Amino acid sequence: MYLKAIFLVLVIVSSESHRIRSNPADESFLNNPRYLNYDELTNLFKQLEAEHPEIAKLRSVGKSVKNRDLWALEINSNVANRTLLTPMFKFVANMHGDETVGRQLMVYLAQYLIDNYGKDERVTKLVNSTDIYLMPSMNPDGYENSEEGMCESKPGYTGRENENSKDLNRDFPDQFDSVRTGTILAGRQPETIALMTWIISRPFVLSGNLHGGAVVASYPFDDSGSKRQCCRESKSPDDALFKKLALTYAQNHPLMKGGRACRTDQFDQGITNGAFWYEVRGGMQDFNYVHSNCFEVTFELSCCKFPKAETLPTEWANNKESILQFIEASHWGVKGLVTDRNGEPVLDADVVVVGVRHNITTSNRGEYWRLLLPGEYEMYAAAYGFQPSKLVKVVVEADRTTIQNFSMERSSAEKDDYKILLNQTQRTFDVYGFLSSDSDLFKHHHYHEMVEFLKEINDSYPNITHLHSVGKSVQGRDLWVMVISSTPMKHTPGKPEFKYIANMHGNEIVGRELLLYLMKYLCEHYGVDDRVTRLLDGTRIHLMPSMNPDGYERSHEGDDSSAVGRGNANNVDLNRNFPDQYYINEFNRALQPETKAVMDWILSEPFVLSANLHNGALVANYPYDDNPPGQAGENLSPDDVVFKFLAHSYSDAHKSMHQGAACPLFPDERFQDGITNGAKWYSVSGGMQDWNYLVAGCMELTIEIGCYKYPYAKELPRYWLDNRDALLTYMEQTNRGIRGFVRSTIGQPIEGAKILVAGVSHYVKSHKGGDYYRILLPGRYNVTIEAPGYESYTNEVVVPREGSVDYNVSLMKDDPMHWADGYDFGITENVLRPKYHSNAEVYEILAGMENRFSDVAAFQSGDDFVSMTVRSLKITHEVSSFLVWGFEGSGWVRSSQVISRQVS
Ligand SMILES: *[C@@H]1O[C@H](CO)[C@@H](O)[C@H](O)[C@H]1NC(C)=O
Ligand SMILES: *[C@@H]1O[C@H](CO)[C@@H](O)[C@H](O)[C@H]1NC(C)=O
Ligand SMILES: *[C@@H]1O[C@H](CO)[C@@H](O)[C@H](O)[C@H]1NC(C)=O
Ligand SMILES: *[C@@H]1O[C@H](CO)[C@@H](O)[C@H](O)[C@H]1NC(C)=O
Ligand SMILES: *[C@@H]1O[C@H](CO)[C@@H](O)[C@H](O)[C@H]1NC(C)=O
Ligand SMILES: *[C@@H]1O[C@H](CO)[C@@H](O)[C@H](O)[C@H]1NC(C)=O
Ligand SMILES: *[C@@H]1O[C@H](CO)[C@@H](O)[C@H](O)[C@H]1NC(C)=O
Ligand SMILES: *[C@@H]1O[C@H](CO)[C@@H](O)[C@H](O)[C@H]1NC(C)=O
Repeated sequence: MYLKAIFLVLVIVSSESHRIRSNPADESFLNNPRYLNYDELTNLFKQLEAEHPEIAKLRSVGKSVKNRDLWALEINSNVANRTLLTPMFKFVANMHGDETVGRQLMVYLAQYLIDNYGKDERVTKLVNSTDIYLMPSMNPDGYENSEEGMCESKPGYTGRENENSKDLNRDFPDQFDSVRTGTILAGRQPETIALMTWIISRPFVLSGNLHGGAVVASYPFDDSGSKRQCCRESKSPDDALFKKLALTYAQNHPLMKGGRACRTDQFDQGITNGAFWYEVRGGMQDFNYVHSNCFEVTFELSCCKFPKAETLPTEWANNKESILQFIEASHWGVKGLVTDRNGEPVLDADVVVVGVRHNITTSNRGEYWRLLLPGEYEMYAAAYGFQPSKLVKVVVEADRTTIQNFSMERSSAEKDDYKILLNQTQRTFDVYGFLSSDSDLFKHHHYHEMVEFLKEINDSYPNITHLHSVGKSVQGRDLWVMVISSTPMKHTPGKPEFKYIANMHGNEIVGRELLLYLMKYLCEHYGVDDRVTRLLDGTRIHLMPSMNPDGYERSHEGDDSSAVGRGNANNVDLNRNFPDQYYINEFNRALQPETKAVMDWILSEPFVLSANLHNGALVANYPYDDNPPGQAGENLSPDDVVFKFLAHSYSDAHKSMHQGAACPLFPDERFQDGITNGAKWYSVSGGMQDWNYLVAGCMELTIEIGCYKYPYAKELPRYWLDNRDALLTYMEQTNRGIRGFVRSTIGQPIEGAKILVAGVSHYVKSHKGGDYYRILLPGRYNVTIEAPGYESYTNEVVVPREGSVDYNVSLMKDDPMHWADGYDFGITENVLRPKYHSNAEVYEILAGMENRFSDVAAFQSGDDFVSMTVRSLKITHEVSSFLVWGFEGSGWVRSSQVISRQVS
């Protein structure tokens, strides 16, 4: 049978030789065929890049264990900057180091595409329209350990595996893995991590994974989650498409198409579902489909894993048409842009084909590519913060890409009824942004007028406001808080809380007035303009216009800079009255009623971001506000970069704060960019700001919003215009960073879990609903979630440039039952009910393990095959050796089928 196969090969060579001869210059790389080792391959690719910089770019995707580069050569007519909507394609070969045909074919393909670009029309078109990445070797270390002419793997799979003796095609996260603790990268090989990162971070559309040891195209899924070894299909939602992709390769390959190229295997039409052939847990193919937008098919190219080099021209001839057609398949189906009303790309939108349970998501340029077979489909796009697009009918034809763009509207979903109601009265706003100019608005609101104003807002906008008092001042005035949100009444897990507090010093009144105007502005604009609608839909906003209503009543209009009315009715400065990280002193030893009420309130809601509005200066002041005893000057918090950014967000959006000009009363006091560290300016112990950050987990700034403490009423319109955008912009920062839910593996919310960011010695905690919010700047962070009684979990999280990323975590209970389930194959009696087992029990447990973990465990009867009394459990990665015995009784064919699958 082996001879017959060789005979077939020869027949093919002679039939293909016509084409080669008719076009000899194109394939001169086939002369003197031999394999290139790592150094030769590196040099060749560097040379190709140097000679053809406009169409070839060499990239290292990562390093092997022995520090060899995992090279990928990009070939495209615009390697400098991929043209919008050009699909990305990749081939990855030689993942098993001793399966080498694909590796050398990639070297040939690179030369073929580059040499023929501009000469051959088909090649030119392909390189013009497709961003092609060729990775000849994912396992360069394994290759160097392999031996030309070896058709089977060496003993111990030397060469197949990487330098750490790991099979890389069993090392990827699998969709059927139970919940892992630690990071998704923990314990994985450098080659695997490099490829995982590459696959997830680039918008690949189609991919081929080139192997050897059989001749067949094998498509997802490779795994069914069962403990079977083979023989049942595990279909993906795109099964028909995958079959067609596999057939495209197989039917153009003269040996593969018959399905009987090698001795043992038979494949109908040269293709197979992966799990049907044999189950692979942790393979790269399924990882591509499950975790990225990329469709990958595995191609087994040769019966002999490492055939002699003289077969290579034949292999090229056999595979060339298949390879080209497979790359061309990147253009099947539909592609287009998903944009918002302004034409801006919508990132990470789901592009849904109705009836197919597999979405494609948009790239950071709003592009998508949806491979589809010819036919008629219904499609739509959906993205967080947007209304789903219209459903469209899309016709897909063979050999032509359908273009279908989607345009999306930001959603303000929750309160649609309300908005329609609002919409009926056509709205026009005055220059201050208010409905119907209200001549009475810009005045000083004393306590009773303020209460009246609050009640009027509350009455006018019952659906989006919630007015309540959080306590009383010394003289019995209410400390009013207006909550404004699409869900004003109570915290919704997943929706962050924001607050502004003003007038803590009774004679600093600008903030008090601005918060009244702000509530009117927010209510009047909700459902009318996108910015405010998005804000109130995504955030619950609390406005406390006066924390010190008693002091206010003692102070007087026109006061530039005095201290009259600064303190509360007991003449205590409330901004010295909070518990301090360094000092207990005469100012904060006894809490004032206002302080106590505000502290209780702050701790009752999961506040994320806050500002305390003062005046008498023009600067955004960030933690810390004071120093440990014996120190002076700047005192930075662990979140200094974030605080600086937040301070900038206010200062930059303010009409003049960012200019850093001095206030007339303090001509020498200038603040670069209008921001300052509190302690650097002057030390304040017992301030509210640091307490918010350190105790309540809420990031707070103290913002001085004007040079004069109690300006005349005629100045108020200008203050409003100067600060309006800054007030809105600052609130929007609540929705930055990382947020999500911490739950147990059974879905129960975990309260009080710590969210730690590597390198930052400050953490926030999850709230009752398991929800948490961590403001962070764009970038990558290693985030650890810790909760008492649970195993902690660390993962790298990417914070996007705008907005936040959802990062939900399930923590595993740290108890014997869960531990056993996760790590000890569920044999809970090992830890729960320690006892000696009878022989029968031992037999049963070991046999059970073989059934469940048959890829690593063999229940064998010592070396004698006969004795039923001496038994042992063998746990090994060398499964095939045991499978021969295990299946001997039930027939040789099946066992050899299994073996050949296991080793290919
Ligand atoms: C890449 O091209 C796009 C337009 O296709 C352009 O907007 C962008 O600035 C370019 N980027 C670079 C780095 O040249
Ligand atoms: C490939 O792109 C080049 C440059 O954009 C163009 O001149 C050429 O016509 C294109 N060729 C094909 C076959 O698309
Ligand atoms: C596809 O996206 C839609 C819209 O976002 C979503 O409702 C659906 O659950 C997604 N389907 C899958 C299989 O992820
Ligand atoms: C899709 O959007 C792109 C970019 O805006 C545009 O060039 C193209 O004409 C649009 N195609 C269709 C079919 O609307
Ligand atoms: C509000 O009115 C505008 C124009 O008057 C209209 O285009 C829009 O669809 C309306 N919105 C709602 C939610 O009814
Ligand atoms: C606010 O309005 C609601 C609904 O109209 C009302 O039930 C509530 O009593 C009002 N709150 C205050 C403090 O007046
Ligand atoms: C909003 O308020 C109106 C009355 O102004 C009421 O009829 C309606 O039911 C409310 N809508 C919601 C969603 O609560
Ligand atoms: C996260 O931790 C891993 C493992 O220690 C490290 O390789 C990686 O660079 C870290 N990422 C960041 C963003 O610090």
